[in-house]
Amino acid sequence: MYSRIVGTGAYLPEKVLTNFDLEKMMDTSDAWIRERTGIERRHIAAEGETTVDLAEHAARRAIDAAGVRPEDIDFIAFGTTTPDLIFPNCGVLLQQRLGCFGCPAFSVETACSGFIYALAIADKFVRAGDAKCALVVGAETLSRITDWSDRSTAVLFADGAGAVVLRPSSEPGILSTHLHADGSYKDLLYCNGGVSRNVVDPARARGTIAMVGNEVFKIAVTTLGKAVDEALAANGLDKSAVDWLVPHQANIRIIQAMARKLDLPLERVIVTVNEHGNTSAASVPMALDAGVRDGRIKPGQLLLLEAFGGGFTWGSALVRL
Ligand code: ACO
Repeated sequence: MYSRIVGTGAYLPEKVLTNFDLEKMMDTSDAWIRERTGIERRHIAAEGETTVDLAEHAARRAIDAAGVRPEDIDFIAFGTTTPDLIFPNCGVLLQQRLGCFGCPAFSVETACSGFIYALAIADKFVRAGDAKCALVVGAETLSRITDWSDRSTAVLFADGAGAVVLRPSSEPGILSTHLHADGSYKDLLYCNGGVSRNVVDPARARGTIAMVGNEVFKIAVTTLGKAVDEALAANGLDKSAVDWLVPHQANIRIIQAMARKLDLPLERVIVTVNEHGNTSAASVPMALDAGVRDGRIKPGQLLLLEAFGGGFTWGSALVRL
């Protein structure tokens, strides 16, 4: 038994913030941001619009594309680091919107790799026969934990949501998933807000993102390179077998490094970072949805999904669509 992705969906909030808008807010420039990151614009959730609001749009689109009904969903795995509430978790809040009461629903907080972690867990449940119609979501409102006075991070992060539906299949499907974490890097990328830990200013308890960008960059490239090798080796496949790289959309230069590693021209890499910046757990399912909906990714093709984020946590999934 395998699990197979049978529908994808994505959603970006309406409000667009371009690099030129940021030029008016801080000491930065469109040229610097584009050259260093590839980002041209990002979407920001409206006041009162939450992570689960974005997720619901993406989930309904994935459910429609899969040709199932919301009440058919029997498992929800939700990757996010910007939950609506401490509890109930975002998976449960989304379940309430969709009306698929009773099924397991939970969220996974592994930052940018949240969707890959959620996908790996859902895959195991489907393969074991314990879920027949699993919804996997990655959604974030990172604008709420962005330090808008810090130009080195404020230009990078933004909001969005992506989702897929998994169903059982006798054919693969998801060939394999690989998850990792290394907490010795916890101080290179983190959000300083907390619940059980004292924060300096209780009024700002949710904190803001802090990052040593150039260190994160170097480790991300090396680590993702190894993750790509691991996924291919586990399946006895050569890199030439990969039709599409669907990477975490953090920075065009990290994406280009991964494409070079796989000997893939950039035309065989789904790139959406220019449109929405780094949306953490939402970025991989949004990129997947973009490639599927515009017809570049075709049924039967082999996709390599990968992500890396705060923790550090990272992972990959080799997927036959
Ligand atoms: N506008 C203009 N100048 C800026 C800005 C800005 N927004 N931000 C920083 N600078 C300046 C710095 O102050 C510095 O100036 P100085 O030389 O006078 O001191 C100069 O630009 C270079 O700064 P660096 O941090 O060395 O720039 P770098 O080339 O490393 O680019 C960046 C920074 C884009 C953050 C890069 O390191 C990066 O992308 N890192 C990966 C981080 C990432 O993507 N993290 C997301 C989570 S992990 C993941 O998803 C992979």
